Formats: sequence, C-alpha cells, structure tokens
Amino acid sequence: MENKESFVIEGLAGKKRLKGTVKVNGAKNAALKAMAAAVLFDGPVCLENVPETDDIDTLSKILAKLGTKIGRKGKTLTVDAGALDSTSVDSELAGNMRASVVLTGPLLSRFKEASFPAPGGCVIGTRPIDLFIAGYRKMGAVAALDDEDRLYKIGAPGGLKGAGIFFDKVSVGGTETLMMAAVLAAGRTVLKNCAMEPEIVSLAGWLNACGAKIKGAGTPTIEIEGTAGKLLSPKKPYVTIPDRIEAGSFLILGALCAEELAIEDCEPGHLESTIGLLRDSGVPIETGSSVIRIKGNSKPASSFKPVLDLRTHEYPGFPTDLQPVMVTYLTQVSGESKVFETIYDGRFKYVEDLKKLGASIAVMNPREIEIKGPTPLAVLPGDGELKAHDIRAGFAVTLAALAGKGTFTVGNVNLIDRGYERLEERLIPLGAQIKRVVL
Ligand code: EPZ
Repeated sequence: MENKESFVIEGLAGKKRLKGTVKVNGAKNAALKAMAAAVLFDGPVCLENVPETDDIDTLSKILAKLGTKIGRKGKTLTVDAGALDSTSVDSELAGNMRASVVLTGPLLSRFKEASFPAPGGCVIGTRPIDLFIAGYRKMGAVAALDDEDRLYKIGAPGGLKGAGIFFDKVSVGGTETLMMAAVLAAGRTVLKNCAMEPEIVSLAGWLNACGAKIKGAGTPTIEIEGTAGKLLSPKKPYVTIPDRIEAGSFLILGALCAEELAIEDCEPGHLESTIGLLRDSGVPIETGSSVIRIKGNSKPASSFKPVLDLRTHEYPGFPTDLQPVMVTYLTQVSGESKVFETIYDGRFKYVEDLKKLGASIAVMNPREIEIKGPTPLAVLPGDGELKAHDIRAGFAVTLAALAGKGTFTVGNVNLIDRGYERLEERLIPLGAQIKRVVL
C-alpha cells in the first residue's frame, strides 16, 4: 500500500551542521517477541519501554483479533492472553508484517494448534518459514499447507514434545519462536545453530524470571526444560532493550551530518562491529555505558576511508539491517567499497534511488555491490522523488537526502514509521530541515 505521507528534506550539501542529543527507543524487534510470549502466561504481562512504531500496533491488532486484551499507556504495554479464544492469525494483518509468524510457537505450545498464512516474499527477499515448520514437526506437530486458503494449519493434539532441533540456517525469529514453543512443551528441547542476537538473550532472561527453564541464550546451543503445559506467571515486567539498529542508524547519520552528536539510552556493546568499522573509516567516536558520542567530526566525509569488503553477518557480525544505511555512508567516503549481503537475496532495491542522486554503485549480483566514493548526492532537475522500499532502506534514502544538495522528497514514509518512531520529530531538534507532508 503506497502511503500518501512523505518527508520533504532540505539537504545539508555535505556540511556537518547537525548537533545535539538523540534518545534511542526500545527495540521493536525485541518488544514484538515479548508481546508474542504473553500467550505463554496465565495472566496479563507488562512490557515497558515499548516503542510507538507501526509494527507494534500491527501485532497488537493481531493479538486483539485472537481475543487478547491489550492496553497501552505511553511506553508501557499490557498484554493479557487469558481470554484468548482463537489460534488463527489474521491473514491480512500477518501479510503486512512477517514477524507475526513468531505467534505460532506460543499458540501451538499452549493451545496445541495454530494457523498462519503462507508468507509471500517481501521487498527484501523471500521470507520462508520452513525452519519453523520443520521444528514443529520435530516436536510432534502435524503441519500442512491448505492450498485453497493458503494457510499453514499446524496441530499437536497430544501437546508439543521436547526435541533436538538443528537449524539449517541461523534464524533470529526461528530461534525465538522454537524457544518459546519449547517453554510449555513436555520434556527437554535442545536447539542448535541458534541466532545469538541480544533480543534473544533479553527474551530468555525475562521468561526465566517468570518460571521458564532456558539455558544458553546468546550462544549457538539453547536448552529448554519444558513445563509440560503449566503456564508461566508474570513475576516481573519485560523491559525492552535499546534498539541497536536505531542507535546504529543515528550513528551513521551523525558521521555524515553532525559535528557533535550524543546518542543516549543505547547499549554500545550491541554495536561493536558497526562502531569498529566507522572508527577504522575515520569517524571520531567515544562510548560510555549507555551513550555513543561523535565529537570533533568537522572534517568532510571525503576524508573518511572506504570499507574494502563489508559482509553482513549474524550477530555479533555487521547487521544486515544497517547495510542500506552504511551504503549511503560509503557513497560519501573516498575510495572503493564492496558490500556483500549474506542474509537476504533482495536487499539492494534502494540502490537505484541512490544512483539517481549521483551515487556510483555497481550491482554485481543480488547479493553484492561495489561503491566508488565520494560522489555528490544531488537532486536531478524535477526528479528529487525518492522512495522508502523497506524500513531500513527508508532510513538510507532519508540520510542521502539529509547529506545531499537540494530539496528532496522521500515517499512511503509509512514504511519508515514501522521501525523508527516519529523520525522527523527527532531530527528537527538536531538542526535538520525535514518535514512530514501529505502529498
Ligand atoms: C529478524 O527477522 C528481524 N526482524 C529482521 O529485521 C532482521 O533483518 C533479521 O532478523 C536478521 O537479523 C525481527 O526481529 C522482527 P531470520 P527474521 O529468520 O527473524 C531465512 C527490520 O528491519 N529463513 O533471521 O525474519 C530468511 O529468509 C527487520 O527490523 C529461512 O530460510 O530473520 C533469511 O534469509 C528486517 N527459513 C535468513 O533466514 C525460515 O524458516 C535470516 O532470517 C526462516 C528464515
């Protein structure tokens, strides 16, 4: 759905005029899974520091359609799955947000059934759920794709049983979902080749505080002793960890556009790879316990060095979600960079928008590009229209406009709103000339 709202941006023409402080929100990719985990509880759970982004709203609507009671007060969300009376995830809403597949684990584990629309692709590539289905089958479920209504119907009449599961591919959602499914299963589950993201460690820590028995989160092997159907008790609120992708996005923006920038309420330890790459490139970065600072960043971006071979990698490697934003940065440094996208097979669609502004980028294949910098990012006469293709690509083209020369329009801002809360309201106090318009 093409949204009518756009950003209109007056570029800084390479000047590093922004300065000040930006506060990082709670991580949407952590909060979404804690919301799904609410299904495992015998009463309402409280989630704190939840960002006010559209993906959170979408999952709230999906949970409400299942009969869950959702309450929101600022950054605090209450999710009560006590009266949940359906296990069929709404197809239309799930079509808008693939992450809703994580609901199938808790639903199956508690209600012994779940149904979910077969995922289409999405703009960043095919988004299969084969790892989820294979895992459920190992735990004793029967899963079939109903060709007529394109729904996966999954059932485990005798309840899920603990199992040994090896993920053929490292999957963040797969790890989180099978971990949640195993929490109420009968017996022990051992998950191998797991993702190690901080969001997984945070989820496991909270579930353990509420009665689960999960060991090894944050390592490739996670062991779960199932409760054999006994629900968890909401002993303490879930406090959403800082959004490392939002913090990294602001850090890269600061490198190009700010002489001084303080990124507060973040967790620098979750951004080691990104901070290391930017420091090696010449960006003056300091870190504190919950702050990342760019200071004395007055040299032009052309003084920065390229990254010869950047590969996206599962955590703690360089995150795929910062790949588009980093590519915008690399168009402004002096020299040639190579970027290899190992996670997705369609995450370079935004490159065409950057090339329209003058960036020199060669797409070698769906997973590899070569960038030559620096090149100006300027509005072509009468064609300053850019588009957000997905959440992170949306930030990348917004950054290109902010760093570029001229007046730019970025369309499909609704996609940016999915992952960045009121972005323009946080950039304006830094000195950015950006406004949201309805075209
Ligand atoms: C999570 O998606 C994040 N989303 C993504 O962030 C992030 O890009 C991704 O992890 C990788 O870090 C949320 O947490 C809501 P995966 P997820 O399963 O869990 C393939 C953003 O912008 N795969 O780790 O869906 C898959 O196609 C979003 O915030 C299978 O083949 O990602 C991909 O190539 C974008 N079969 C790879 O694994 C499966 O059954 C990694 O995907 C599942 C996944």
